[in-house]
Amino acid sequence: MDAQAQSQDLREKFNAAGQGQVFRFWEDLSETQREGLLQQASEIDLSEVDGLYQNLVMGGAEEGQGLDGLEPAPYMAHPSKGGDLEAWKKAFMTGEDTLKAGKVAAFTVAGGQGTRLGYDGPKGTFPVTPVKQKSLFQVFAEKIRAANSRYGCSIPWLIMTSHINHHQTVNFFQEHDYFGLDANEVWFFSQGRMPAVDADGKIILEAPDKIAMSPDGHGGALRALVRSGSVARLQERGISVLSYFQVDNVLVRAIDPAFIGFHVLESSEMSSKMIPKRDASEKLGIFCVQDGQTKVIEYSDMPAEMQAETDENGVLRYLAGSIAIHVLDVEFVNRVGSGGEFQLPFHRAHKKIPTATESGETVKPEEPNGYKFEMFVFDALPFAKNATTIETLREDDFSPVKNAEGSDSPQTAKDDQLRQFARWAEAAGVRLEVDETEKPAFDFEVSPLFADSEAAFVTTWRHLDPKPTLEHGTYLE
Ligand code: UTP
Repeated sequence: MDAQAQSQDLREKFNAAGQGQVFRFWEDLSETQREGLLQQASEIDLSEVDGLYQNLVMGGAEEGQGLDGLEPAPYMAHPSKGGDLEAWKKAFMTGEDTLKAGKVAAFTVAGGQGTRLGYDGPKGTFPVTPVKQKSLFQVFAEKIRAANSRYGCSIPWLIMTSHINHHQTVNFFQEHDYFGLDANEVWFFSQGRMPAVDADGKIILEAPDKIAMSPDGHGGALRALVRSGSVARLQERGISVLSYFQVDNVLVRAIDPAFIGFHVLESSEMSSKMIPKRDASEKLGIFCVQDGQTKVIEYSDMPAEMQAETDENGVLRYLAGSIAIHVLDVEFVNRVGSGGEFQLPFHRAHKKIPTATESGETVKPEEPNGYKFEMFVFDALPFAKNATTIETLREDDFSPVKNAEGSDSPQTAKDDQLRQFARWAEAAGVRLEVDETEKPAFDFEVSPLFADSEAAFVTTWRHLDPKPTLEHGTYLE
C-alpha cells in the first residue's frame, strides 16, 4: 500500500470505530502535520482503547479490587529489626558474587510527567543534593560507578524515558559526559504511550495535529524492555537480573547486594523492598497475599478500617508499604513483557487533559475532563514465581521527590540526605551537632564515590589522613 492509501485506510478505521473526530482538522493541516498525526494514530490499538473505556470507565471495573481472602504478605525482617543476621550475611555475599559475575544491570523508570513537582524538564535532571546541587541522574550514576569499582564489573544502566522527555534526557547525559560512566553502558529507550479519552470514550485531540497521548505507566516498562530490544541485549551479555528503581528516589540503594542475593537465593522472579508504614493512613501501596499470589493493593483500594487493623501487639496488620524498588529476572521480564497470557491490567486516571477547541486552540480545563490509561509495575508480582519481599530502612532507601513543597519534596529529600550523611559520620566517630530530628546544624555532602553506605563511610573515613573538618559546605568525594 502506498502512503496515500495507508493514510486513507487508517482514517477509515478511525471513522468506523467512531473515532473520526481525531481527523477533524485534516483539511487545515500541512503535509508535515498530517504525517505527525498519522504516526500517532498508527500507534493506537482502537479495539484496546474501546475495551478499556467499556471496562474501566463505563463498567467501573476499577471501583476497588476484590479483597476476599486477602492477607498481609510475609517479608524478611531487616537484621536491625530482629531479622536473621546469618541469612542477611549469606544474601549479601551471594549478591556480591552475582555482581562480580557481571549478571546485574540497573534499571530506572524515568518516563513519568512529574506534574506534581511542576519542574520544567525531566525529573532526573532536577538538582537535589545539599551542597553540589547534583541532579538525581548524577547521584544514581555515581552510585553505579561506586558499585562498578567495588565489584570490578561494568553495570549497564537502562533508563526508560517517554516521548515527552526522551531527547532532553539523552541530551542531558551527553552534555554531562554521562557523569563519568561509559556512554556505551547507558541504554536509553522510550516507553509506549496511550491516548486519553473523554467521558464518551472519544479519543481527545490536544491540538489539531496532536492526539492527547501520555506514557503508558511504569508498568509499560516490561513491554518496552522487550520491544526496544533491551531484553535481547541483556541476554546476549549474560545479564540475568535487573535492579529496578524510580527516578525520584534520591536515597535508593541503586545496587544493593543483600537484596540481589535474597532474590537469587529464593529463586524469585520479582522481589520487592518494603518499609513499615508510618501509620495506617500513610499513602503507600500494601504488600498482600491473595490466593497464594503476592500483590500490592493500592492504599485507595483498601478500606481505612482495614488499613487500621492491628495485631495483638498493637502493630498494623497491613504494615508492609511498597516503595517501588524491585529486582526482576530478565527471563521474567521477557515472559511478561511479551504479552500473550501475561498482559498487565490497565488502570484509569481521571485527569485534566488539555483539549483542542472547535477553533483549534488548546485549552486546559479547570476540572478533570478525560481518562488516561496506565499500567503499574507491581501488577507483575502475581505472575512471578517465589515473589520475595525484604524489609529495608526508610532512612537508607526511600526519600522521593514528588511534590514542590511539603512531604516528599526537594526540602525533605535534602533533609533526609543530610541526616544520612550525619549518621554515617557519627558511625565513624565524628561528633556533629544535630537537631531533634537528627538533622545536622549545617549542610555538607558525601559523594557516593566517597561512600555509598554507612559501612563504606566508616572504612573510607578510617583511612583518611589527615581527616577533614566537617563544616558548612564540606564536600567529601
Ligand atoms: P509517579 O507515579 O510518581 O508519576 O511515577 P510521575 O509522572 O513521576 O509524577 P506525577 O504523578 O505526574 O506528579 C513514579 C515513577 O514511575 C515513572 C516516573 O518517572 C517515576 O520514576 N513513570 C511513571 C514512568 O516511567 N512512566 C510512566 O508512565 C509513569
